[in-house]
Formats: sequence, structure tokens, C-alpha cells
Amino acid sequence: MEIIKTVAEMSRWVQEQRTKGHTLALVPTMGFFHEGHLSLMRRAGELVDRVIVSLFVNPSQFAAHEDLDAYPRAFARDAALAEAEGVAVLFCPEVDDIYPPGFQTTVAVSELTSKLCGKSRPHHFAGVTTVVAKLFNIVAPQYAVFGEKDFQQLAVIRRMVRDLNMQVSLVGHAIVREKDGLAMSSRNAYLSKAERRQALCLWHALQEAKALVQAGERHSGRVAKRVRDVLLAHGPCQIDYIELVNRDTLERSSTIDHRVLLALAVRIGTTRLIDNACLLHGGDKNV
Ligand code: PAJ
Repeated sequence: MEIIKTVAEMSRWVQEQRTKGHTLALVPTMGFFHEGHLSLMRRAGELVDRVIVSLFVNPSQFAAHEDLDAYPRAFARDAALAEAEGVAVLFCPEVDDIYPPGFQTTVAVSELTSKLCGKSRPHHFAGVTTVVAKLFNIVAPQYAVFGEKDFQQLAVIRRMVRDLNMQVSLVGHAIVREKDGLAMSSRNAYLSKAERRQALCLWHALQEAKALVQAGERHSGRVAKRVRDVLLAHGPCQIDYIELVNRDTLERSSTIDHRVLLALAVRIGTTRLIDNACLLHGGDKNV
């Protein structure tokens, strides 16, 4: 596996691979790999002959009060894990190379980013779409693989690709979970032992919602109320949102069908966790 640290070198490598006729897939990440990240790399490897993983903790998607400085990093371990997955290149540029002095262009998706996580993180998605657009330009991959754990991020990137005619096929990958059901996340590293136990409230709430819907409930308000009760039954937490939305438009849905997704954002201590699931069979394999 090659470790490439500059945009110029990455562009040269991409040119070389193209002249050799290789197909490329990109997996954008911020590192501190867990099985979720690794399964995206494996999926990418099924699609093309060269997988590029970007590892860049993108400052522009963190607000001033958020966890940019604390964000967990473990470069050597990440490099070993990516190599073991058969990744061709780990691309880890410096901040100044991605955002050189004078940088002043952003790519922003308006409507989809005003909902859900966008309400409490108003500038977050513009940071995501700007860096992902840059990565797409640098790597020009045929495919890019993203996790459905961040389903709003995936919906926003899909919209950007469609709206700006970007020549990349997006692939969504199902949420990878710990044995007990907690969705894997680099931020789980922030949780104390007691918080880690409490964090299972998200999984239990999704399970309960699924059971209600399987029993015939189709009213979103009643499901949301039950979900709130389950979340709070596990201990004090700050519920950012409980939303039942159409998975493509992210519009609220008052009744539940196959396109409806239950999305949760909950703060346990100082750690903000998100999770989601489709509640009807055929919508999603995660729950
Ligand atoms: P990061 O949080 O490192 O996530 C990288 C990719 O891994 C994203 O596509 C995310 O959805 C996916 N992922 C994370 N946890 C997952 C899980 N439990 N199961 C399946 N996939 C999972 O998302 C970002 O980085 C950044 O916003 C980025 C897109 C790289 C832009 O900076």
C-alpha cells in the first residue's frame, strides 16, 4: 500500500493508473478505523481494481465548539488496517494542501442540509460537501462508497453529485454494529463505561420502534413517543431529534411506509451519537 501525502502526488498516481486502464474507487474517511470503515473498503474492492482511502480530519465540517482537536487519531494502526484490506493508496493530505491560503470556494446543498443534523450543525454539511467534491476532483473515481450510518450525509452527497453532474457512482453500505447493537463510530471512543452501556438506548429504541411497526402501528407520532420513552428509560440524555422521514427527501412523514426511516441523534454526556433504521421489512437490513 502506498501512503500519499500531497494532492500533487495523488493526482500523478491517478493519471498513471488511468493510463494503465485501472478502475478506481474512493472511500473518504476521517480515520480511527473500525469495522464500519473496513467493510466500506472491502465493498470498494469488489467494485474496482484499485481502492483509494482518504484519511483527512476535515476542519471545515467542525464548528468552533466541536471536537476537531479531540477527534481520535491513530495513523499507524489505520495504515496497517487499510493495508490488510488490500487498499492501494492511503491518501492523507495536510490541511494547508486541501485548503491553501486564499481558499474561498464552497460547495453547499441547501434544502437537505437544513433538516435533522443540519439544525444543530448548520455549517457541517457544507464542510462535508466541499471536501468530498475536492476529493472527487482529485481522485476522479468511478465509485465512491459511503456508510448509511450517516444517511443524511449520503443523501446530501447524492444530491450534490446529481445536481453538479459529477461522474461518480455512489454506493451506500449498511450500518455495521457492535455485537450488542451499538452502531460503530469513531466517536464511541469518547464514551465512559457507563455511557457505553447507556448508548445502547439508541439500539433498543430502534428495536422497539420496529416491533411496534411489525405489530401494525403506522402512525409516526405514536412511534416517536415510544422511542422517546425508551431513550429516556436508559438514563438522562439530551435528545437532539427523533424523526421519521422519507429516506430520499428527508421530509417528515406522518405515516410509516417502506421509504420511511427513523433517525435518532442523542447526546450522552458530551458525546453526540446518531443512528437510523427503516422500520418496515424490505426497507433496510440493519434492524
Ligand atoms: P467518518 O466518520 O470517518 O466516516 C467515513 C465513512 O464511514 C462514512 O461514509 C461513514 O458513513 C462510514 N461509517 C462510519 N461508521 C459506520 C458504520 N458503523 N457502519 C457503516 N459505515 C460507517 O463521514 C465522514 O468520516 C466524513 O464526514 C467524510 C465523508 C470523510 C468527509 O470528511
